[in-house]
Parts: sequence; C-alpha cells; structure tokens
Amino acid sequence: MEQIIIDGGQTRLQGEVTIEGAKNAVLPLLAATILAKDGQTTLRHVPILSDVFVMNDVVRGLGITVDFNQEQNEITVDATNFIDHTAPYEYVSRMRASIVVLGPILARCGEAVVSMPGGCSIGSRPIDLHLKGLEAMGAEITQFGGDITAKAAKLKGANIYLDFPSVGATQNLMMAATLAEGKTVIENAAREPEIVNLAVLLNKMGADVRGAGTETLTIIGVKRLHGAEHDVVQDRIEAGTFMVAAAMTSGDVLVKDAIWEHNRPLISKLLEMGVEVTEEAGGIRVRSTVQNLKPVSVKTLPHPGFPTDMQAQFTALMAVVKGESSMIETVFENRFQHLEEMRRMGLHTEILRDTALIHGGGNLQGAKVMSTDLRASAALILTGLVAQGQTTVTKLEHLDRGYYQFHEKLAGLGASIRREGGA
Ligand code: EPZ
Repeated sequence: MEQIIIDGGQTRLQGEVTIEGAKNAVLPLLAATILAKDGQTTLRHVPILSDVFVMNDVVRGLGITVDFNQEQNEITVDATNFIDHTAPYEYVSRMRASIVVLGPILARCGEAVVSMPGGCSIGSRPIDLHLKGLEAMGAEITQFGGDITAKAAKLKGANIYLDFPSVGATQNLMMAATLAEGKTVIENAAREPEIVNLAVLLNKMGADVRGAGTETLTIIGVKRLHGAEHDVVQDRIEAGTFMVAAAMTSGDVLVKDAIWEHNRPLISKLLEMGVEVTEEAGGIRVRSTVQNLKPVSVKTLPHPGFPTDMQAQFTALMAVVKGESSMIETVFENRFQHLEEMRRMGLHTEILRDTALIHGGGNLQGAKVMSTDLRASAALILTGLVAQGQTTVTKLEHLDRGYYQFHEKLAGLGASIRREGGA
C-alpha cells in the first residue's frame, strides 16, 4: 500500500513553493464547457489531480470531446456535437462534485439524468438547494433508482433565495440560468473566488452573469453560448496549506503567485497568532517562531469567512502553539476525523459536537496514521513534520484528489519526507 513517511521534529521549511490551479475552480469550469454549442473551450493552468481526470470522464461520458494536455496543463473541450444527457453512476459515484453537470445538461438538452451523488466522510452532502432552484426555474424533477431526472423544454428565469450559500448549488443554478428565458436572481449566493472564476468564463462564452462575488447574482438568459479560453484561478487552499506549514515549522516560505485577497480570513488568523505574513511582488511570504505564537479561536464560515477547507490544516498549527485554541466547524457535520488520528500522535483535544478544543504545545510523537478525507491527509502530513520521530500516512488516494506533488514540494522546502509502495 502506498504511504508517505516523514522524519519530523527538526523541520524548518524554507524557500519558495509554486501553487497549482484550483481543484474547486476547474471542476465547475469543466461542467460549464457543456454549455458551448459552437467552438472549443480551452482551460489553462489546470492542476493534474485525480478529481480532474474523473470530471473529464464525466464530460466525455456525454459524448463530448475532452483532451487533457498534461505537459501544458491545458484541457480543450469540444461540446458542439454533445449527444447524451445522462451522467452515469460509474462516474458520478466517484466524485460527488459531478452533480454540477446537472444544470448545464438540462439547460443545453432540456432533459438531464444524473446519478444521485453519495455522501462522503465529512458529511451527508445533500443537494436539496440545487433541485429546489431548478424547480423554481420550471424543471420537473423526479428521483428513481438512485438517479435524478430533470426535464424542462425551456428553463424560465426565477427569483431564488438559497437557504444556505451553497457553492455547488450557486454554480449549478448560475450555469442553468445562462440559457433560461428571462432574468434569474440568486440571493444568498456563495461568494467564493471560484464562483467569480466560473462567472468570468460564462461571460466569455456569451452569457450575461452579474454580481459574482457578492451575495446576489443576476443572470439574463441568452440563446446560445460558444467556446472560450480561460485560466483556472490559483488554488487558495493549496496556498493556505503551505502558509500553515511554514507557520508551524518556524519557517520562512514564499508562496508564489498566492492572492492575498483570496486568503484574507486565513491571513487575519495567522497575524492574530503572531505569524509574520507579508505580501511581496512574487506572492505571500510567511515567517514565524513557533514559541512566540499565541492560541486563537476560529469558526469556519462560507466565504469571506474562514474556509472549512483550511480547518484541518489549521488545527495542526494549533497543535504546536502553546495554550488552548478552539475550532468551530459550522459548514460540515463530520470534519474532525483528523483529530482522532492526531490524538495517536499525542495531541490533547476535546471534541464537543461542532467544537474542538486543542491543548497545543505538547510534545507530539510520530505514528502510523490513516487519512480519512482530502484535507485531513494534508493536516496529518503537516503534523508529521513537527512530531518527534517517524510518521507514516496511508490512504493517499484522498490526498491525490486535491494536491499535486505535495510531498515533493515539502521536500523542496527542506522536509525529510518520501512516498513509497507505489502500485
Ligand atoms: C464545495 O463543496 C467544495 N467542493 C468543498 O471543498 C468545500 O468544502 C465546500 O464547497 C464549502 O466551501 C468543490 O468545490 C468541488 P456546499 P459543495 O454546497 O459545493 C449544505 C475540498 O476539500 N448543503 O457549499 O458540496 C451541505 O450539507 C472540498 O476541496 C445543503 O444543505 O459545498 C454543507 O453542509 C470539501 N443543501 C454545506 O451546505 C444543498 O443543496 C456546504 O455545502 C447543498 C449544500
């Protein structure tokens, strides 16, 4: 079985690290290419991640041509002759984010059959907001045998209020609305940078989307969309992961091309702890001396709040800071599994429903630990950097969903880390 082995305890990360295009941007961008009736769409700065290969298969499964040039980090999609409106279980079951093809297929074909995505280890991951919004736009939704069938000869613009600013629901409904008749207003919409990245592509394709990045989106439906060229926005979560890694190892790291604005909630917490974070021409530099850092309280919230996707990594930082920190996870109902594994490394923590109290500054020892989800994998590896002795992390398929060459990049910053047992 593949495993990552870290010899920790003395690590001080130093140097420069580059970040990839965002996983959580490229997946909806690939779904958007389904909407282009004329011409090709080219996505640049595409990260080489297992989730990207899965989404490519989902789009190909619709009869659409998808070419992934990995050397150039470019994907070219030609949806001119898009024929099939069914996204089969074999693909959707591999990645619940595939659900965002539902809106584009329905808008393009008037009918869509998409397998219900399963939950995942961090939560049940319902899609009620996606379906309610499509019904508001006139779709007839039925569920049978694990599939969702959505039908609408022509979607109609609607006023939609999202009970929760769901990222996926905002994306699905924004894409569906681009080809609807009339105006759609989505209130309490998600405001993540990946939403803005998607809206920019849609407008390049001929759509009329306004207000991306705010809580109110207005989309004026158009007749048809065409191909375009577009850059995937930098991965703010990968950038944040390396910023936390530098902070917890008393390091000095330049995270190249990181965007300050996209990481403000994380940066404000790092500064509150006493970490030195500065913006340079080439990116964001993070320096720290762990023994001078102070414990903090953090609550995850939809953007522009502290990102839930940085929660696990940040608890690893809290584990080395002397004193009691607290983490409240408000977005997902089961996203503290990494703490159970970190307990095996000597972490003292109490978990009370959505709140984890972290008694940091104790001595952490290396151990064999198991990843449970994508961000937990990164958190366990970071903890291995500072734990005394050897840490072995398994179930790396979770890590490979969202990080490209993660251990190589850490080794390049001075970590003693290797990956072995490959297939
Ligand atoms: C996206 O998931 C990201 N995934 C997640 O990143 C991220 O954690 C999440 O947004 C929040 O930022 C991708 O972009 C591929 P949501 P998504 O819909 O769209 C509830 C990672 O580690 N909800 O905003 O599924 C839901 O239960 C991954 O990179 C409903 O109740 O997130 C959850 O509690 C993990 N009904 C909350 O909203 C719905 O119809 C957030 O879900 C939809 C969601």
